[in-house]
Amino acid sequence: MAKTPFANKEELTEGRMTRRRMLTWLSSVGLFGSAIISVISNLVFIKPRATYGQPNRFNIGKPDEFPSGTRIAMESHRICIVRDGDKMCAISTTCTHLGCIVAPSETGFACPCHGSRFDQDGNVTGGPAPKPLPWYKVSLSPNGEIEIDKGSEISAGTYFNV
Ligand code: FES
Repeated sequence: MAKTPFANKEELTEGRMTRRRMLTWLSSVGLFGSAIISVISNLVFIKPRATYGQPNRFNIGKPDEFPSGTRIAMESHRICIVRDGDKMCAISTTCTHLGCIVAPSETGFACPCHGSRFDQDGNVTGGPAPKPLPWYKVSLSPNGEIEIDKGSEISAGTYFNV
């Protein structure tokens, strides 16, 4: 006996159930997928996009690593470490004119950008720089290393005694 397209009611119902199941499954997958995308996009939104610069406080090593007479420019931190006997200080190497990095010279510091000159203590001796180079607080951290705090400017000539 040949089958007609609408053979009996049971087959019709079976076909509808299959279609219904498929639609239910598709909607569930769609809802689940959109929930996942929503959670991911919220997490991406919550995560701060700000990039933070270097910390203001950092250690540079043990005092023995800086013998008397040391005058070392640390470009990554934009400071110059000076040690004279037991006295130690950290002087900024950021030019107070427009922010170029000054280099230690025989007479103090020299800026390659517009020719500002500073003496050994960072005082302006020539050029367009409006202010002396700042000095930063130097201390000994609990692990025995020298700690520089670029968040604390101190008056020039204030040395840390190692
Ligand atoms: S940035 Fe140093 S003199 Fe201009």
